[in-house]
Amino acid sequence: DIPIFTTVASYREWRRKAFIENRSVGFVPTMGALHEGHLGLVRRSLSENDLTVLSIFVNPAQFAPHEDLETYPRTLERDLKVLAEQQVVASNSDMSSNSIPTLDSNQVKRPSAVFLPSVREMYPGGIEQEIVKQRGTFVEVTAYGEQMEGKSRPGFFRGVATVVTKLFNVIQPTNAYFGQKDIQQALLLRHMVTDLLLSHPSPDHLHIVPTARDPSDNLALSSRNAYLSPAGRKVAPTLYAALKAAEECWLAGEGDEGGKNKNKKECVEIARALVERRIEEARYHGLDVEITLDYIEMNDAGTFEILDDSDTRSFRGNEAAPVILSGAMWVDRTRLIDNLLLGDF
Ligand code: PAJ
Repeated sequence: DIPIFTTVASYREWRRKAFIENRSVGFVPTMGALHEGHLGLVRRSLSENDLTVLSIFVNPAQFAPHEDLETYPRTLERDLKVLAEQQVVASNSDMSSNSIPTLDSNQVKRPSAVFLPSVREMYPGGIEQEIVKQRGTFVEVTAYGEQMEGKSRPGFFRGVATVVTKLFNVIQPTNAYFGQKDIQQALLLRHMVTDLLLSHPSPDHLHIVPTARDPSDNLALSSRNAYLSPAGRKVAPTLYAALKAAEECWLAGEGDEGGKNKNKKECVEIARALVERRIEEARYHGLDVEITLDYIEMNDAGTFEILDDSDTRSFRGNEAAPVILSGAMWVDRTRLIDNLLLGDF
């Protein structure tokens, strides 16, 4: 069984040993309800580190009072079971130079520890749901946290940045792994690690892993997919389809001399129109589901600013500036997000 640490003090003791033995620690922070997306991060960490730690903590500070903190799926027993089943066979050459060589050239690696703190442990001073009532110390990654997802969910990234700072302080990871599924979160945390001069992880050791999708219809895996009704699950891949349509439009324009034929607004409009069409179709087929598009945007991956049509650099010749094409869509009471990365990432 994987050791479970529920207190900061007990984990720190374990971590001290790993420091002394010079073993690298890979870290995968989660809110539980583990799925293949999370497990992909775990396997990546297993292959790149001597030891792998996963945390499960449903962080109250990143939920607004009207959001789904109470109902967020909690499946601890199953999580621990699937986690224990994860393993990678690493050849010694894959391992960090500090790892202890074994006679056997292939070594099976499994998760080493789970950090499972209580709310009290993470917020010793308590935590209020309403941001105006919150007392204590918070981390805000200014500007980056107010755009894209931050615009739709004020205070969300403050909650994420705060809890991840705390987790990094406790876990002291050599490497940390985040999913592209939440691209703004991952890039914002990289800014945070840089700005706060953190060393565990250092900015170069915060890794972004491609989004894991349902192979049948490309729906991005998410713990929140568990909320979807059968009809909702059926229409949920609409967001990905819309982003793909915008990407196709973008790629068609990118090849042009100066990208004159297509502009960003047009590509985003094509994506929005696809969602509208799917809403009509769902209605026509009498599906019992309500779809509402929150947003589809193209943003500069460096600043998160919306790219408007006056910005043409991404279309010019081979100079492909990294762009985030992202969206959020409501399916009944469930908010889904997804993104594609364009240009040179
Ligand atoms: P959670 O939603 O549980 O996600 C944990 C990690 O898994 C995040 O880095 C997320 O991007 C990644 N992930 C989720 N779905 C994925 C998918 N389909 N493919 C690849 N990676 C995926 O994100 C959080 O928790 C929290 O905000 C947290 C960082 C733990 C802070 O509370």
